[in-house]
Amino acid sequence: MTRKLRSQAWFAGHDKDAFIHRSWMKNMGLPDDAFDGRPVIGICNTFSELTPCNAHFRDLVEHVKRGVLDAGGLPLEFPVFSCGESNLRPTAMLFRNLASMDVEEAIRGNPMDGVVLMAGCDKTTPSLLMGAASCDLPTILLSGGSMLNGRFKGRTLGSGTDVWKFSEDVRAGVMSEAEFMAAESGMSRSAGHCMTMGTASTMASMAEALGITLPGNAAWPAVDARRNRLARMTGRRIVDMVREDLKPSAILTKQAFENAVRVVGAIGGSTNAVVHLLAIAGRVGVDFTLDDWDRCGRDVPTLVDLMPSGRFLMEDFCYAGGIPALMTRIRDMLHLDVRTATGATLGENIADARVFDDEVIRPLDRPLTPQGGIAVLRGNLAPDGAVLKPSAATPELMVHRGRAVVFEDIDDYKRRVDDPALDIDASSVMVLKNCGPKGYPGMAEVGNMALPKKLLAQGVRDMVRISDARMSGTAFGTVVLHVAPEAAAGGPLALVREGDMIALDVPARTLMLEVSDAELARRRAEWTAPVDTMQGGYRSLYVERVLQADKGADLDFLVGCRGGDVPRESH
Ligand code: FES
Repeated sequence: MTRKLRSQAWFAGHDKDAFIHRSWMKNMGLPDDAFDGRPVIGICNTFSELTPCNAHFRDLVEHVKRGVLDAGGLPLEFPVFSCGESNLRPTAMLFRNLASMDVEEAIRGNPMDGVVLMAGCDKTTPSLLMGAASCDLPTILLSGGSMLNGRFKGRTLGSGTDVWKFSEDVRAGVMSEAEFMAAESGMSRSAGHCMTMGTASTMASMAEALGITLPGNAAWPAVDARRNRLARMTGRRIVDMVREDLKPSAILTKQAFENAVRVVGAIGGSTNAVVHLLAIAGRVGVDFTLDDWDRCGRDVPTLVDLMPSGRFLMEDFCYAGGIPALMTRIRDMLHLDVRTATGATLGENIADARVFDDEVIRPLDRPLTPQGGIAVLRGNLAPDGAVLKPSAATPELMVHRGRAVVFEDIDDYKRRVDDPALDIDASSVMVLKNCGPKGYPGMAEVGNMALPKKLLAQGVRDMVRISDARMSGTAFGTVVLHVAPEAAAGGPLALVREGDMIALDVPARTLMLEVSDAELARRRAEWTAPVDTMQGGYRSLYVERVLQADKGADLDFLVGCRGGDVPRESH
C-alpha cells in the first residue's frame, strides 16, 4: 500500500505535534512500531450496563481487537453514547441523532483509518451507521447477536412480543399477575438483544443486506462461539478494507438500499426500519424516499416465519441459514452485483448459502404473507405518508371504515382508555395525536396502543389504530404509524375530532379523513401547537430541528456526508 494513511497525519514525523500524539498513546504500553504506518482501527463500542442488549460487548470487543492485530492493524476502542431501548426515557429514539453526532465527531476528530461499529440494541445500529456514513472512512458493522430463545413453563417466549400478549391477557383477566412476573426471567435468559424479528434483529438484518457487515452477521446468537469468530473476522477484514480504501459510499448505494428494503419485506421486519433507512440514506446522500419502500417492498413475500408476525425466533433463523440463506430464496429480486464489505459482490457472498429449515425460511410458493414489505399510505389524513406492516395486521381490517375515538396525547390516552364510559366499540378507529418526532418528543413506540379493557374482555384482539408515533418492532396489529406531517407540526392528524369517519384501504394505499376541506380549514384556524414542557438542552434543539418521519426524523443540519478531513491541529 503506497497511499499515506489518515492516522499518519497524527503519528508520523519528528515534530512537536507527532511527539504529543505518540507520547500520550505510549502510556497504554504501545511500542514504537504501533505508529509505523499500520492501519489504525477505531472500534466504536456501544457497551453500557444501561443497555443490557449490549452489555456483553466488553468481551466481544476483545475478539475484534485480536482480529485487527492478526491482520497487522492497531485496534483502538472508544465508547459512544449507547441508546438502550428498554431503559431510556422518554424514548431511545430521541437520542438516536445525538448518538450519531457523537459517533461522527469521535471518528472524524481522532486518528483512525477505519472503523468497526459495534451495535446491538435497536437504535445503536442506525445511530452508528448514520454517524459513520457522514464521515465515510472505511467502515464495517458487527452486531452483538440476539438472546437465546426465551423459555417459560414449557413454551417458547419472544422478547417484547409476549410482553404485549401477556399484558393484554392480564388486562383481560386470563393471566395472573404472579405468572406475568414469573415470565420476566424466562424471556431474557442470555446475553444479547431481542430475539424476535423486532427492531434490533431487523436492523442487524438490514445492515447485512446493505452489505456493510460480513455475511452471517445478523443471526448468530450472542452466546454462540461463532459470534466471537465473526467478531475476529470482522477485525481482520476492516484492516484490509482500509488497504483497499473501501468506504461506505461505495457500499451504501441506491441498489444496496433497495436490497435492504426487499430483505426487510422477506423477514417481516420492523416498521422502524423505515425511518432508520431513510436517515442513513440521507447521510450518504442517496436519493431514497418513502415511496421507494412501497415500490421495492410491495411484491416481496414474507418468507421468514418469526415472531411477531410468525412462530419462530432468531435462534431458529440462525440454524435455518440466516440472511444469506434467505437471500437465495429472493435472489431474483436482489441486485447481486453490488459490492459489499467482503470486497466481493453480494452474489458471490451468497453463492454457497442454502436453507436448512423450510418452516423457518419458507419457500416462495408457501410464504407467511404473500405481500410483505411496508405499505405506504397517503390521503388527506397523511399527505406526506404513513406506514403499516401488513404481515402484522388483521386481514379483515385492511379495508375498514370507522368512527374516530380521539386521544389528544399519550397522557389523555392513559387516563381514558379503560374508562368504562368511553364510547368505543370494535369497529371504532383509535386515533392518538402528538406522539411524533416533535410531539412526544422523539416519536415514541406507543402507536400500538393497548385496546380498552372492556373490549378485550369481549374478546376483541385487534382494531385499527392511527398515530404519528412508531411501534415496537416486536408488536403487532392493524396499526397505522408515522403519520406525516405529525400533529404537533400542524398535520391534518391534529384536526381529527371524536366521531369523524376515517377510511383505511391498504390495498389502495389510502388513508382518508371524511371531513370537508372547509371544515378542516375552520378547525385549522382554531388549532394551536402544543408547547414542550421541558425547555432547553438537547431536547429543545431536537424539537426545533427534527425532520418529519417521511425524511427519517434526522436533524436537518445532520443530513449529508461531511467527510473525514479535519483542517486544523489542536496544538
Ligand atoms: Fe434492546 Fe430489544 S430492548 S433489542
